[in-house]
Amino acid sequence: MKNILFAASEGVPFIKTGGLADVVGSLPKSLDKEAYDVRVFLPKYSCMKDAAKEKMSFLTNFYMDYNWKNVYVGILQAEVDGIKYYFIDNEYYFSGPKPYGDDGLFEIERFAFFSKAVLAALPLIGFRPDLIHCHDWQTGLIPVYLKERFQGNDFFWNIKTVMTIHNLKFQGKWSIPEVKSITGLPDSFFTSDKLEAYKDANLLKGGIVYADAVTTVSETYAEEIKTDFYGEGLNGLLQARSNDLRGIVNGIDYTDFNPETNPLIYQNYTPKNFRKEKVKNKLALQEELGMNVDKDVMMIGIVSRLTDQKGVDLIAYVMDRLCQDNIQLVVLGTGEVQYENMFRHFDWKYHGKVSANIYYSEALSHKIYAGADAFLMPSLFEPCGLSQLMALRYGTLPVVRETGGLKDTVQPYDENAGTGTGFSFRNYNADEMLNTIRYAEHVYYDTRREWNLMVDRAMAADFSWKVSAAKYQEMYDWLIG
Ligand code: ADP
Ligand code: GLC
Repeated sequence: MKNILFAASEGVPFIKTGGLADVVGSLPKSLDKEAYDVRVFLPKYSCMKDAAKEKMSFLTNFYMDYNWKNVYVGILQAEVDGIKYYFIDNEYYFSGPKPYGDDGLFEIERFAFFSKAVLAALPLIGFRPDLIHCHDWQTGLIPVYLKERFQGNDFFWNIKTVMTIHNLKFQGKWSIPEVKSITGLPDSFFTSDKLEAYKDANLLKGGIVYADAVTTVSETYAEEIKTDFYGEGLNGLLQARSNDLRGIVNGIDYTDFNPETNPLIYQNYTPKNFRKEKVKNKLALQEELGMNVDKDVMMIGIVSRLTDQKGVDLIAYVMDRLCQDNIQLVVLGTGEVQYENMFRHFDWKYHGKVSANIYYSEALSHKIYAGADAFLMPSLFEPCGLSQLMALRYGTLPVVRETGGLKDTVQPYDENAGTGTGFSFRNYNADEMLNTIRYAEHVYYDTRREWNLMVDRAMAADFSWKVSAAKYQEMYDWLIG
């Protein structure tokens, strides 16, 4: 039995702001239970829902030297679907209305605390991992602290680490003197071959430098991040580590995201009966959202963080033109105020046709994945993207830009070959996107048989964790030896 520890800042079913939580919630239970004992560390946020908190019980606590103080570390535990979870509890660091705050320096202090506390907690819970799988900048200091202080102790000797990059845009950077003071790491760590990047201390960089292997969440993104455009300043380092860097595409939880059984949608359907049953979801959704009720209109769905990453500016640019077409647009998302207001404006202007839902709702997200005909995701960059996988699973055809995981998971329609599971365009250009949406409209309205055959293929595509979990296992085995 090999012991694997996941450390991350979010995970379903406890706390979620985006796809990272889906991955942390679904990958551990997809690994072979006979061969791996996988456990997960998360922060215990006050903003977690009561249902999540009720699953937890107090395990133990200790005090840890951190940022010139002796700081309380509580450890809570829970078990879900056979996976053991542990939570690092500290009111000062993890209270607040959201998991992530706006104060950059305090963010660094909070997650550096989490990283150190995870390592310090291990001997107390009696679990010695053979490998720690770290996710994103919030856990970037785990490989660093492990090498710098913990590995001197027998318990920690020879623990391996993997750093997975879910989004290179976020790196956890701040001025060196302040990070040095907070983390207690010695001067020698803040050089350009270690944590320093462009004069700042960079936590993700630390993780990339010190981890035994680095992964990201699709093959295309693994290539893209070695270039200037996608590399966010770390492309040089990623090139240098390219022998230890690989892309493993995410899966989704095929039990949760199952149109046959999911209780959150209005009408369950299957690959066999979607031609008759799926449309009932569209009609009920139109009704619920106060849109024009029309079974024939092509409904386009968007479920997304409303940020630059997701290509929302392209959508804003063509909204008026798009709304001249015979379509409906349903949006669910939160993010930058300018984009939230943009969608509110078009909901007002094209009422009945556009529905802007500017909040977070698991239930509505499923209803959109099930009810829409097409799913729009024109991202500027997309490490993997899970929303398009959810859409495919529900037979809702993605319209995407060919980048990162979108390129790897959506096969563009080829009408001659009769292949494809969606529609895609190449350049980050609003007219190109609009043309592609219009091509999808044409296929939908004029060649419905072809559209439905594409839905068949989309629903038959397999983006469960089966293949990718095996790739992680292979990597763990290789590293652990
Ligand atoms: P990212 O992690 O970059 O936000 P992903 O596509 O990997 O993008 O994952 C997004 C996840 O968050 C999906 O599970 C999607 O359904 C969910 N999501 C995004 N916005 C909302 C929202 N407003 N309400 C409910 N779920 C949302
Ligand atoms: C990040 C990326 C997204 C990816 C998710 C899970 O949030 O933006 O593309 O799917 O992580 O890996």
